[in-house]
Amino acid sequence: MSAGPSDFRSDTVTLPTRAMMEAMASAEVGDDVLGDDPTVKALENRLAEMFGKEAGLFVPSGTMANQAAVAAHILPGEEVIVETNSHIFRYEGGGLARVSGAHVRTLLGDAGQFPMDELERAVRHPSIQEPRTALLCLEQTHLFSGGAILPLPYLEKIFSFSRERDILIHVDGARLFNAVAETGVDPSVYGGLCDSLMISLSKGLSCPVGSVLMGDGGFIERARRVRKWLGGGMRQVGYLAACGLVALEETVPLIGEDNSRCRRLGSVTLGLDGIRLAQETVDTNILFLEVTASGWDAPMMEAALQDKGVLALAMGDRLLRFVTHRHIQDPDVDRAVQALQSILEG
Ligand SMILES: Cc1ncc(COP(=O)(O)O)c(C=O)c1O
Repeated sequence: MSAGPSDFRSDTVTLPTRAMMEAMASAEVGDDVLGDDPTVKALENRLAEMFGKEAGLFVPSGTMANQAAVAAHILPGEEVIVETNSHIFRYEGGGLARVSGAHVRTLLGDAGQFPMDELERAVRHPSIQEPRTALLCLEQTHLFSGGAILPLPYLEKIFSFSRERDILIHVDGARLFNAVAETGVDPSVYGGLCDSLMISLSKGLSCPVGSVLMGDGGFIERARRVRKWLGGGMRQVGYLAACGLVALEETVPLIGEDNSRCRRLGSVTLGLDGIRLAQETVDTNILFLEVTASGWDAPMMEAALQDKGVLALAMGDRLLRFVTHRHIQDPDVDRAVQALQSILEG
């Protein structure tokens, strides 16, 4: 169990492993803006190959990966369809408008999936009066739906839908490795069902910084230019990319354990009065509980849990979020269950 509190707030709290620190100390680096950092190139190429894409681009954050992708795909004023509760729309500071001048259209999904009939209606007919529907954004796994996995048949359906209408697809795959661990689907299959995708290194994979955006060569060159004007061109960034290379060997294989622990937490909490699962299934490492106990709300529950050494995140009045990651082991899950039990029964 963690020496300090059991921190379930987010998988972004993870710290680099010893092997990552050692890899940073010995990384071979260069000036990545000038294009000669071998460690960055190695990471970009490894991931691009793994996901079946031509090229990759290391960026400082998932937010920059998403925003650079959209800016590289569309012209200002073109329409981007996003899920109402997606990270790219809700939690990136309005970047779609500011960075890309996107005309944004939201559709409320079910576990992150667009209803196909609504999607069909949302796509604009070619007209001088309407914005052109240029891009669809998907999120794998879908954070707000409790880490829901977008299933392969759905992705295949969306992909052929988009090909028939000349629309591009970008996937926010901040937690795509959590889906891969569960489904066993080869990463290249996921890569083959979109035009661009990004993965985050700094969440469950435990790296301190970074995401990698992937796509075809022309797209990555346009995204590289956007990264520059966003201030994301970094110099000896191989020190950070070195952690990503370690992650592919060391932490990616452990991601399935995070999913299992989250499922265990979800199943135990099913039996408790005063909270209920706020999602249909626990597919991966994110769990939303709804606080239903009378006299309690989520911020109160967050504070009471904190007193018992368990950190969760209140999101609004009712929802409490738990995320599992490398620093959450079985005893931390037990501690969370006992804390919830004693708060609700006491
Ligand atoms: C689904 C999703 N996409 C994108 C991001 C953005 O990543 P970053 O915090 O590295 O900007 C996050 C961050 O939590 C996320 O959960």
